[in-house]
Parts: sequence; structure tokens; C-alpha cells
Amino acid sequence: MRRLIIAGNWKMNKTIKEGEDLIVSFKRRLYNIENIDIVLCPPYTLLSSLSDMLISSNIKLGAQDLFWENKGAYTGKISASQLKDVGCQYVIIGHSERRHYFGETDEMVNKKIKAAIKSALVPIVCVGETLSQREQNQTFEVIKGQIQEGFKDFSQEEIKNLVIAYEPVWAIGTGRNATAEQAEEVQVYIRNLLAEIYDKDIAQGIRIQYGGSVKPENIEQLIQQPDIDGALVGGASLEADSFSQIIEKCIPFS
Ligand code: 13P
Repeated sequence: MRRLIIAGNWKMNKTIKEGEDLIVSFKRRLYNIENIDIVLCPPYTLLSSLSDMLISSNIKLGAQDLFWENKGAYTGKISASQLKDVGCQYVIIGHSERRHYFGETDEMVNKKIKAAIKSALVPIVCVGETLSQREQNQTFEVIKGQIQEGFKDFSQEEIKNLVIAYEPVWAIGTGRNATAEQAEEVQVYIRNLLAEIYDKDIAQGIRIQYGGSVKPENIEQLIQQPDIDGALVGGASLEADSFSQIIEKCIPFS
């Protein structure tokens, strides 16, 4: 059975003090969760102080992006080894906001995944279709392209610990989540595709999260689906109560 993974993507939210306060609440409420991987991805400015607070805690630290070069004259960029240095174990790659606002391509996603794996960071690779792509029945085609191009030239060994987040763009921050059936349908498609590209065992082992307006009210239906192995949570990860509730509601399925 795949271990559930619930990650919070804070996006461009929280000061250091606000983040620290939230960590105090999370630690108090979630300290006894053993069978679920919990990951928080704050902005870069919070990584150092939260890293100190999360030492020997069951909450792991992740970043929201990285640059694929290891070091050098790349103003404004952060490398995989720098993330590792500050205590990150995970990194989100190819989030739809990066793809749409910052022009990130599948080729760039591919380089970023490569850099993350090289530094022993677990990539959480986001894929997902826009509303118009869904309406034009292009969902599977879009996902296939993102996976084929993004995962180009990886060995089974490299790919096997990576996490995929299916995040339909129309469900992000809109309050309109995909139904459990809609999410499961795409996630089964992704798993079958991985079986085709790699092999069945690899595909069965890779964890696929759902993301897009996940809330305490809808997590139970989503997490019951056999191919939904967790959630990538935006807005609801910014409050101690809603994020903790989401995780607590997953316990019976862990
Ligand atoms: P929301 O949960 O706010 O819809 O955001 C989802 C997301 O983009 C997580 O990466």
C-alpha cells in the first residue's frame, strides 16, 4: 500500500512570524500522526527558521520551486543543493502557477526534476489541464504531454521515489474541486501511462496526489479513491485548523 502524503503549498503567503506561529499549532496538533507523510512548502524566506523548528518533527520541509543549475550567476534563483542545505526534503516542480505566470515549459520542468533527484530531494511534480482543455476533451492528451516531456530520460531508479500532483488548473483556488470520480479518472490514466513508460511495479509504487480546492469538507471522498494517495493543499494549508482536519480525516485511510 502506498503511504499517503499530504503537502501544504503556502505559495506567496506568510511572514516569518506568521509561519512560525502556524508551525507551533501544527506541531501541537499533528505530533502523533505516524502513517502519513506531512510536508509544508513555505516561501523561501521562511525555510531557515521553519527548518530549525521542524528538526525531529514528523512534519517535513519542502520548497515551491528550484533552479536547475547548481550554482553561479543566476540572480534570484535557488539551487537544489541550497534547498538541501537549508533542510528541505521535497520540492514542488512545475506548479501550474509557474507554468502559466512564469512561462515554465515541460523542458524546464524536466531539468528541474533532474536537479532535484541529483540532490536527493523528492520532487512533487504538478500536472493538470486548464478548463478550456478539459472542455475540448484534451485532458488526457495534455497530461500525457506533460508527463512524457517532463519525465524524459529518467531511469526507473530515478523516477521511483518521485511524487506526482494532479492539479486541474480550473480547480486551483476557485473553490471548485474536481469530484472524486473526475480526479480518480485522471489519476488512473497517469498510473497507466507510467506503467507503459516504465513498468507496472514502478507505476504502482509512485504516489499521486490530488490538488485543487482540497478542504476538510471534500478530502474524505477524494482520499477514498484507490489512486489518490494524498493531497497538495493551497488555501486550506494556511490555517492550522483546516490543514490539521484534512490530515486527521485521512487517518482511517492511511
Ligand atoms: P488551492 O488548494 O488553494 O486550490 O490550491 C491548490 C494548489 O495549487 C496547491 O499547489
